[in-house]
Amino acid sequence: MPVISFANPKGGAGKTTSALLLAGELAARGASVAIVDADPERWISQWGALPGKPDNITIVSDVTEDSIVDVVEDASTNNQFVIIDLEGTASLMVANAIGMSDFVIIPTQGASMDAKGASKTIKLIRNQARLAKREIPHAVLLTRVSAAVASRSLKNVRDQLDAAGIDVLTSSIVERAAYRDMLDFGGLLSKLDPKQVSNLDKAVQNAMEFTAEVVAKLKAVQAQQGRAAQMSNRPSLGFDDDEEVVTTPPPKADLVDLSGFQPKQVVRPDKQKTAEAAAKSNFKSRESKPALAAVPLAAPTPIKATRRRRTGRSAQLNLKCRPETIEQFYAIADANGWVLGEAFEKALELLNKSAMKK
Ligand SMILES: Nc1ncnc2c1ncn2[C@@H]1O[C@H](COP(=O)(O)OP(=O)(O)OP(=O)(O)O)[C@@H](O)[C@H]1O
Ligand SMILES: [Mg+2]
Repeated sequence: MPVISFANPKGGAGKTTSALLLAGELAARGASVAIVDADPERWISQWGALPGKPDNITIVSDVTEDSIVDVVEDASTNNQFVIIDLEGTASLMVANAIGMSDFVIIPTQGASMDAKGASKTIKLIRNQARLAKREIPHAVLLTRVSAAVASRSLKNVRDQLDAAGIDVLTSSIVERAAYRDMLDFGGLLSKLDPKQVSNLDKAVQNAMEFTAEVVAKLKAVQAQQGRAAQMSNRPSLGFDDDEEVVTTPPPKADLVDLSGFQPKQVVRPDKQKTAEAAAKSNFKSRESKPALAAVPLAAPTPIKATRRRRTGRSAQLNLKCRPETIEQFYAIADANGWVLGEAFEKALELLNKSAMKK
């Protein structure tokens, strides 16, 4: 059954949020959904531990870069949809997951379009596709976009991606407190209390439109693969071969039709080749490296509350720096296999140490 990954090495791009929205909407329509929680922060597993998780959502959280292929294979045999929430870093785990995916969604913050994270993911997808000798359909999903009328900068972002030949989903995920509340309160979005959650109806509508579009895309992929399999006489990747070619219809908000998905034969990617191809795009193993010596964090320096923007679950820090500083920071984080938050904490450690020496 279809495997959908959410990937972008940029932290905080909205992977976890959009993965859970899709899973919740599919489950609300009665589909069995497995979520592979490969985000080291384990937000979805924490959500699952709260009351309200429907029984038709299974969360698998013990997953490593080595086990992910087996985990996804198992999950796709036993569930109608498999959704993989990936970590916000360039790693071999991401490459392995992409190699198993029928559709990769690349959540990208609409307001501060981080072309670097998205293009890094697309490069990896193309390498993995070449290796697997199959298409790995993918699309950018603009996230956290303003609820106000579509801004000019958002249109620019869409135009730029279009010009680069990159598919962008028509629906985007709007910035809504309801999405943070879903993770804090647990349960399905549509089951939250509208008295406690602002604009819940709009949030549900947005999640439904996004899900309808993803389902329509999967059907289009299924039809294409069916045709390709008929033409080359090779085994299909598993969706319903006999269906007419479906061109992606504009999503209807009230129609998420889950019929027509047949069990598929998962094609396991070759581990060694995947690792080699992934390394070319700078997605390297993080698990085989010797663990870094644990350095106790110095007492945290108090940060003025006004500088830090708190979200429901974590804190986000937006910095304005020169482009070369950002490049350098990414390069250091990538070279060490650190997520950006981790790299920032290491830098803080050093600053604290040097401050203590003075
Ligand atoms: N559409 C949205 N509306 C409101 N808040 C959002 C939205 N999308 C994401 N957020 C918030 O932004 C933060 C980062 O989002 P999220 O955890 O989904 O990103 P991520 O890409 O999974 O991050 P990571 O790379 O760290 O795993 C979270 O606090 C989340 O609640
Ligand atoms: Mg995440």
